[in-house]
Amino acid sequence: MTQYNANLIWQAKQVLDFNWTGKYTRPGPRLYPHQWSWDSALIAIGYAHYTQRRAIKELNHLFESQWKNGLLPQIVFNPHFSEYFPGISFWHAERSPNSPPGRKTSGVVQPPVHATATLRIYQHAKDAADAQEFLGHAFPRLVAWHDYLYRERDPWSGGLVYIRHPWESGMDNSPIWDEIMQRLKLRKEQIPTYHRVDTQLVATQDRPVSSEYDRFAYLVQLFAEHDYDEDRIRKDCPFLVQDVLFNSLLCQADHDLAEIARILGEDPSTFEGRAQKTASAIDQKLWNEEHGTYLDFDLVAGRQICAYVAPSFAPLFAGIPGKDRVQRMVDSLENDGFGLGAKDSYYPVPSYDRYGFGFSPVQYWRGPVWININWFLMHGLKRYGFDEHAERLRQSIVSLCQEGGFCEYYDPLTGMGHGSDFFSWTAALLLDILLEKTV
Ligand code: SER
Repeated sequence: MTQYNANLIWQAKQVLDFNWTGKYTRPGPRLYPHQWSWDSALIAIGYAHYTQRRAIKELNHLFESQWKNGLLPQIVFNPHFSEYFPGISFWHAERSPNSPPGRKTSGVVQPPVHATATLRIYQHAKDAADAQEFLGHAFPRLVAWHDYLYRERDPWSGGLVYIRHPWESGMDNSPIWDEIMQRLKLRKEQIPTYHRVDTQLVATQDRPVSSEYDRFAYLVQLFAEHDYDEDRIRKDCPFLVQDVLFNSLLCQADHDLAEIARILGEDPSTFEGRAQKTASAIDQKLWNEEHGTYLDFDLVAGRQICAYVAPSFAPLFAGIPGKDRVQRMVDSLENDGFGLGAKDSYYPVPSYDRYGFGFSPVQYWRGPVWININWFLMHGLKRYGFDEHAERLRQSIVSLCQEGGFCEYYDPLTGMGHGSDFFSWTAALLLDILLEKTV
């Protein structure tokens, strides 16, 4: 290991130490003081390399807040921090008979990377007995989580689960949602009263705009008014989307859950069956032959959503596309505005096609580079033998952290960090990249 990498590893561990609360890790010091679901899973992937105890504590703290119907909440609130919108009182999660007693949570979910993280903790474990015990503890909770998604979010058993809020995608203001957000016409009295905190903590231009927040808040209010009853929500919710990233990560998590079942001597067939069904549904319903890309499906409008975003490449991570489609996707990564062409001088891969309508290099999910998306793509490209492309992404992740610090996201044109600094999953995934070979 070079001295250069040793310093970066030390710095990344400092970020995680700073954000570690003793029970879970804050995604960022001020902007994100609570526990977030997919952040925790990605953070645990970093911890798995050097502190098994923390990796396990991190996921267990989330599992302790699982709803009775299996829902793993997007946020587990820390009641000591009130400076966050939307806080405990805005969600009214207690209106659901399924919400967990003794824990305050939001009432939506985030992408299901938890089985993937759990398997990695086991695979990197130094204390094998402890890891085996954790696997046994996590397994029924992960099964309940995946059961929830397939039961409540895919009642038609087509293989694709839906999300019902942009926050469930993890990509709050992605251009994917623009068409639905435009369609959602609100009258003054339908907009809940709320007070944003985020724009006081980081630059307003880095964050979603207020007309988006109006709609985010409106949807939360709708869920609370429906007591978080999924059958009722499904009938009335104007936002129901089968998302490429969410379903691709679920598909890989199904494979990983099957592997966990095999290790524990349980039957993996249900999970493998789901993985295959979801993979073929992604391939059939979400592929767009004309554009050579996977696209989200808007269930309310009954059509695909044309937006050319980096998460569209996530099926690579789960090994879903066949060779011809992979070639077209790599062509798009090289020749559209995703920065993987030989002559591209900006940082790959921006969250949104650089030449896409309304691209912004700094505004959250409308262009900046996110390390988690690059990490998924790096693994996906490697899986299909595109080693040079994967190496380019790996190097880009390392230079962004080295030059821009451990930020939430980066301007692909300058490499400058934006959003929260001391961002935990950036540090954790960098650690995964730098420590993977030395394990
Ligand atoms: N990303 C959201 C926020 O900015 C929550 O998931 O607060």
